[in-house]
Amino acid sequence: MDTPRLHPDTIAAVRDRADIVDIVSEHVVLKKQGKDYTGLCPFHDDKSPSFSVSPGKQFYYCFSCGAGGNAFKFMMELGKRPFTEVVLDLAKRYQVPVQTLEPSKRQALQQQLTLREQIYEIVAVTARFYEHALLSPDGEAALQYLLGKRGLSPEIIQQFQLGYAPGGWQTLYGYLVDQKRFPVALVEKAGLIVPRTSGSGYYDRFRNRLMIPILDVRGRVIGFGGRALSDDDKPKYLNSPDTELFDKGKTLFGLDKAREAISKTDCAVVVEGYFDVIALHGAGITSAVASLGTALNAAQVRQLLRYTDSKQVVLNFDADAAGVKAAKRAIGEVADMAYRGDVQLRVLNIPDGKDPDEYLQLHAPQDYQDLLDHAPLWLDWQIQQIIAGRDLRQADQFQQTAQQLVNLLSDIANADTRTYYVRHCAELFSNGDARLVPLLAENLMVQVRRQRRSPAGEPTPKTLVFSQTSTLEAAEAMLLQVFIHAAEARDAVATALEERDLHFSYSHHRTLWREIMAWQLTPGEVRPPLLDWLRDRVNESPALAQTQHLYYLDETHRRAVLRAPLVIRAAIACIEQAFCEKRYRTLLEKWGASDCTASPETHAQYQAQIYAEKRRIAVLEKERQTTFEDLAKLPWVGET
Ligand code: UTP
Ligand code: MN
Repeated sequence: MDTPRLHPDTIAAVRDRADIVDIVSEHVVLKKQGKDYTGLCPFHDDKSPSFSVSPGKQFYYCFSCGAGGNAFKFMMELGKRPFTEVVLDLAKRYQVPVQTLEPSKRQALQQQLTLREQIYEIVAVTARFYEHALLSPDGEAALQYLLGKRGLSPEIIQQFQLGYAPGGWQTLYGYLVDQKRFPVALVEKAGLIVPRTSGSGYYDRFRNRLMIPILDVRGRVIGFGGRALSDDDKPKYLNSPDTELFDKGKTLFGLDKAREAISKTDCAVVVEGYFDVIALHGAGITSAVASLGTALNAAQVRQLLRYTDSKQVVLNFDADAAGVKAAKRAIGEVADMAYRGDVQLRVLNIPDGKDPDEYLQLHAPQDYQDLLDHAPLWLDWQIQQIIAGRDLRQADQFQQTAQQLVNLLSDIANADTRTYYVRHCAELFSNGDARLVPLLAENLMVQVRRQRRSPAGEPTPKTLVFSQTSTLEAAEAMLLQVFIHAAEARDAVATALEERDLHFSYSHHRTLWREIMAWQLTPGEVRPPLLDWLRDRVNESPALAQTQHLYYLDETHRRAVLRAPLVIRAAIACIEQAFCEKRYRTLLEKWGASDCTASPETHAQYQAQIYAEKRRIAVLEKERQTTFEDLAKLPWVGET
């Protein structure tokens, strides 16, 4: 299509009508903050919400990447689409009549708009036709099914505009095309009739089915679900195909009737079936909607989030589909939103594998409300599922469970939430022994950190990474510099290392230390100055090249070398601390893997060792920190 030149009035009218919060919240989860809204910026990889939308100014702005503009700009940038296309799109959405500058093109555009309007009309007429048929003698069986088997009241049947599609191949066709004179092509576009595969002509898509109209948020019928009346009829549900009006993946059944209650209760309930929604509304729980037989997707959840300020969504899926894996499938991409904290997702499983409709046949509405009120958060629910039925005193089960929990905890994006849940899992693991909680928490945390560093698939590295890698490297380097430049302190360095049985962790430092040892062992008379010896050796030992910077002293290091005894104390403490931490982690792992019932002594022994390491670490930490204030200027002293 050529780009029409839009009339300035049209552009102005669309600008007036379009609401930036409405438009942005289709793509970004927004939280209200004072007068404005904030969320994660869609234009860059945003870690914390830097994107702000002002309904007052009809303007968005990202404090992090600087993106900003009005509703038009947002849609243009996000979809990489031209201005005119965006305006036309919004014109359709907000029902602004389009005027172009060339009359011929204006006509074409108007036609396209009226085409949609005509399909709306056809679908609405059809809904009324089905409603009528339900109350006619033809619909007798269907009506009895609703009143009897389903136990619905006439009011709720009317409220949901339930209907009946008569049997016969061309009942609706005859009504719409022959009687009402709607163009066949449009009735087909509405998804109501299907062209015959052989020969010519059409037949009704829905025959002898109970009809459930699907409405958009504004209450206009856009499609249908049709339920078979007998179990032999397959499929059980037949739905409208996607049409100009109906997009299954973006629609939630019942939202038009639920949005007020969702706002009021600040919480949305998502169920699986049409009849679950109908039964819940009938029972006065009017915040219920259904995804249409597919996994709930992010677009659907974002629609719901427009109505609940605190982003609460309860998912009530069939309990026969329970189990973490099945639940994950049902939750689909919404899981990611939950891990990011964009939605407060709760899970409701009705006991005995019932769906809400079946449950309400036997229980009072208040019983369902109680279940809703106690629905656990998605994360808690998963943890419950992982731990349920496990005997954590058995080493293998303990290990398996721990691994599953680590996988789960590693997915939590927010650090505070993660810490909270690590502690929570540790408590569950402790079997009521509060003394164990800190250890278990630490054990889980170490594994979670490792998992986050090397996400799924990659094997975790065997070597432990020190928490203070650069600090340790700096401390080792300083100790070597003292040795090289302060002859009077050399004995002290060597003795300290030997006494505490420490060595250098970085391989280039180890190489340098080996050279220093070799130099020391050379008989005194022929021994050249240490620096000369080292400079000579660089050519033969390439690893030494990495340590050449230690041969020179800048001002800070010169001052440090002058205070050699203190520097040595601090550096040694730092190096020893790294070793203790490494041992501490290894012990934690062994402790977690050991079986406390089969070998209680080993288990207790590990525990004692772990506490000993922890105490030593605290002492060393203090030693580092209490070394002279001057030294605090060095990066590896007094740093936490
Ligand atoms: P279920 O098969 O779980 O049944 O479908 P239900 O809702 O409990 O149905 P009743 O109570 O026997 O009437 C759940 C939803 O999945 C979609 C429908 O939206 C249905 O409400 N579905 C199911 C289909 O679209 N097609 C099918 O054939 C079955
Ligand atoms: Mn059901």
